[in-house]
Amino acid sequence: MKSISTQVVIVGAGPSGLLLGALLHKAGIDHIIVERQSGDYVLGRIRAGVLEQGTADLLDAAGVGERMHKEGLKHDAFALFFKGEFHRINFANRQGGKHMVVYGQTEVTHDLMDHRTAHGLQTIYEAGDSVAVHDFVSNHPRVTFTKDGEAHEIKARFIAGCDGFHGVCRASVPKGAIQNFEKVYPFGWLGVLADTPPVYHEVTYSNTERGFALSSLRSMTRSRYYIQCGMNEKVENWSDDRFWAEFKTRIDPDAAKRLVTGPSLEKSIAPLRSFVAEPMRFGSMFLAGDAAHIVPPTGAKGLNLAAGDVNVLSQAIVEYFQEQSNAGIEHYSARCLRRVWNAERFSWWFTSLMHKFPDTEGQNFGFQQKMQEAELDYLVHSEAALQSITENYVGLQH
Ligand code: APR
Ligand code: PHB
Repeated sequence: MKSISTQVVIVGAGPSGLLLGALLHKAGIDHIIVERQSGDYVLGRIRAGVLEQGTADLLDAAGVGERMHKEGLKHDAFALFFKGEFHRINFANRQGGKHMVVYGQTEVTHDLMDHRTAHGLQTIYEAGDSVAVHDFVSNHPRVTFTKDGEAHEIKARFIAGCDGFHGVCRASVPKGAIQNFEKVYPFGWLGVLADTPPVYHEVTYSNTERGFALSSLRSMTRSRYYIQCGMNEKVENWSDDRFWAEFKTRIDPDAAKRLVTGPSLEKSIAPLRSFVAEPMRFGSMFLAGDAAHIVPPTGAKGLNLAAGDVNVLSQAIVEYFQEQSNAGIEHYSARCLRRVWNAERFSWWFTSLMHKFPDTEGQNFGFQQKMQEAELDYLVHSEAALQSITENYVGLQH
């Protein structure tokens, strides 16, 4: 077996692992990333694209913010459409000038990968299903994997489990040492990416009697749209024409008239889930990002939560190596979980407010729809409620 040593082994080269790597490198801490898939596979996954200002600032601090500043779209408002009316909600005015940056997760991943190449940082791709974590209750954890028929071992002081919801790190923790909290929603999101000018120039969430829709964008020539669909729907049953026809019924009629349709570049269905694992640290192994928690995408908190985790984790690891202090490491889990549960609550609430739920629990659809409309009406007419939604939307704390 080939054996090498480093300070931190990062499992997973998604946004969490890559950003953690960039932050550790900046602080002069050695690390290696081990990723199951190829780089192209990782880049092929289309995910959300709205960065909180705290996330954008962190990308800057990591030295990877240049293209985001050039190509990202700075937003100061989002919109809600319900009961046939469109309501623009300015968050920057209400939240001390805080902006959001519309910049696809694919682009963030691209920039982080380029940064690794430019700085000669080691990423082992295509490690496959062989990746395993060992001895993480001790101070001498190890990661092993087989690549091209050869067995490898990486010894380190810490393991960062940045390997997503289906990763190996959380799965390796003994059942009695971890508690999972979960809610699965009874619908999915069917998403389409198209090279068409976006119908709205700001992210717009629709609540209609036919269900939820979201109009988002990646640039002024690329749209990202979603509609709520049944949880067992098959993407093959959704031709582009069928998608556009349904989408048009869920946006305001003037927008539907000016909507430019076109062939989809990508079309997929994602399930909606709320999930948190507690704690987020097991001895010398930490969980960060989707490995520890999932939010439903309403409100686009997933990537921002991941960035928050790796920010706290990189500081804790730097403190350990540079100041010989365990304090950051000891507090990592509790510090993250407070922010995580706040975002879980917001994402769950926003999801519950905007979607049509098939499970009506003793109420009919009409009653549920009226309750949602009453809450939305209150929301857009009460300054107190607007303060609350915008405070959560821009991100409670980092
Ligand atoms: N060994 C090595 N790598 C693994 C393993 C494994 N056993 N299992 C999974 N991985 C890799 C995946 O292939 C993926 O590239 O870990 C990576 C995890 O990436 P993400 O799932 O993107 O999770 P994360 O980096 O935490 O990103 C959080 O990005 O993916 C979105 O919705 C997510 O917005 C959220 C944010
Ligand atoms: C997206 O652009 O993909 C997006 C935007 C806002 C959301 C979710 C996803 O709440």
